[in-house]
Amino acid sequence: MIELTVNGEKHSTEAEGDMPLLWYLRDIANLTGTKFGCGAGFCGACTVHIDGTAQRSCSVPLSEAANREITTIEGLAVNGDHPVQQAWAKHQVPQCGYCQPGQIMQASSLLSDNPAPSSADIDSAMQGNLCRCGTYPRIKAALLDLAE
Ligand code: FES
Repeated sequence: MIELTVNGEKHSTEAEGDMPLLWYLRDIANLTGTKFGCGAGFCGACTVHIDGTAQRSCSVPLSEAANREITTIEGLAVNGDHPVQQAWAKHQVPQCGYCQPGQIMQASSLLSDNPAPSSADIDSAMQGNLCRCGTYPRIKAALLDLAE
């Protein structure tokens, strides 16, 4: 039995400990806001917070998530009104939207660690989150807006 907390709720599961956390979130917990992209830790679509730190849920075995606090895009803010989400709306960041939960989880982790990131800080923190639509300039603008 593995126990973990997801978006403030206690979960316990008989799932195998080597199951990727992403599989658990999407297929067992039905939290499908977290996306599957590459499945290998390269794209960032699956980014969640584990104890407040952005991590790739496709590359974290469920056993490592045991007894930890997981936050997904569904749990970031009650009404989808986290400051990052508000900035994303203001700057009309998403295009197809697929990578955006991961982008937002990465960005919100950055800002909680560093509320006033420089341009270089933003580039460094966000470089591992890929976007096929090329929304990078709007992501950057939204984050610079938040950093001011
Ligand atoms: Fe996890 Fe791409 S799906 S990094």
